[in-house]
Amino acid sequence: MSLFSTDALAERRDRAASAIEGAADLVLVTAGEPLQIPGGLDQQYRFVPHPEYYWLSGSRRSGGAMAWTPDDGWTPFVRPVTAEERLWEGDPEAPEGRDVAELEDWLKACGASPERTALLGAGATGTVQVEGTAACRDGARQRLDVVRRHKDAEEIGLLRRAARATAAGHARAREVIAPGVDERSIQIELEAETFRHGADAMGYESIVGVGANSAVLHFAPGRRRAEEGELVLIDAGGAVAGYTSDVTRTYPVGRTFTERQQAIFDLVSRPVREGSDLCRPGIEWHDVHRRAAEILASGLVELGILRGSVDGLLESEAIALFFPHGIGHMVGLGVRDVGGHAPDREPGRKCCGARVRVDLPLEAGFVMTVEPGLYFVPAILDDPERRQRFADAVDWTALEPWRDVGGVRLEDNLVVTEAEPENLTASIPLS
Ligand code: GLY
Ligand code: MN
Ligand code: MN
Repeated sequence: MSLFSTDALAERRDRAASAIEGAADLVLVTAGEPLQIPGGLDQQYRFVPHPEYYWLSGSRRSGGAMAWTPDDGWTPFVRPVTAEERLWEGDPEAPEGRDVAELEDWLKACGASPERTALLGAGATGTVQVEGTAACRDGARQRLDVVRRHKDAEEIGLLRRAARATAAGHARAREVIAPGVDERSIQIELEAETFRHGADAMGYESIVGVGANSAVLHFAPGRRRAEEGELVLIDAGGAVAGYTSDVTRTYPVGRTFTERQQAIFDLVSRPVREGSDLCRPGIEWHDVHRRAAEILASGLVELGILRGSVDGLLESEAIALFFPHGIGHMVGLGVRDVGGHAPDREPGRKCCGARVRVDLPLEAGFVMTVEPGLYFVPAILDDPERRQRFADAVDWTALEPWRDVGGVRLEDNLVVTEAEPENLTASIPLS
């Protein structure tokens, strides 16, 4: 039984069919196969279906495919449940559809040429062998992406559940942060509480960084203990049925921030609020990044760390010394959902020195993370080439005492609507 209603899945398939009409004579979207763990004998990694397949089929089972032709619409093919699976796993999900063993004959009867075949999802797999072209695949995928970027009501419902579980996890983490507690213990408490409140998985590897580790963008928690006067950066989100939250908060270890930590925290909390308010239809995502960069650059000038005009600091990319990543990305079905760029734009266009993962105007139904951050990263700040290039833009002497702050990031998840943006993670206090 799929978690999604028959109506919701039918509506998704209709929207997808209208979008891909004309792009191919055959579209085959595969789930993928489990991956063996190298050297692990019969052990496999936890299977995650390709999001294109899961979105269309509502099934998280491996080995299946959704086939589309202009005449017949969508036909689901599924891998039947075996006695062996029942022995080892109990009653696995058994989605409705034709036996995938029939797919080969079905494809022959369909007779689509490889030039007009788009192989999406996980591509050719053990159960599905068919030839298509990259051009046909890319064309169909672009059209499917346009449709998948808009979350339907059932997807938003899952994201609200994921956010509730995540809020409980972050509240627990906040409670246990105290001098002497280590990163791993914070992670354990956060994840346990997130699971207790309805998550069935963490959406990605939790990030918990104490002290200098808060300046490592994707730090994996270890045994480092928190000390009074340090920061803890936590970036963690629970998932429900593959739909995840992606939330970052930065807390003081003692009761209050130090003066410098407070100044950086206050600065970062401005673009997270303003960026959230900018999540409205028609706003260019690069402009949301640029606005955050402006606020942060102007604040760093006031603190005496950067020098010069704000426009100049954005233009020269000096701001990326301290704000080196994009303002956010699409989130939902996985921690990196769809994303991409408008068809008339070059992929990978940077903004103010950062790689921004989305290069599109926002539309109602998009779900975005807004995650400004400021970091004092030794690998960036001690790089001789950067020190030379930005000799005038940075007051290198004034910068020194700020380096102990580490990093501050704040991250919320916003649904773009025709009215006010909905902040899914608003119940998690910023401090
Ligand atoms: N959790 C990783 C990120 O914020 O993108
Ligand atoms: Mn995150
Ligand atoms: Mn994120």
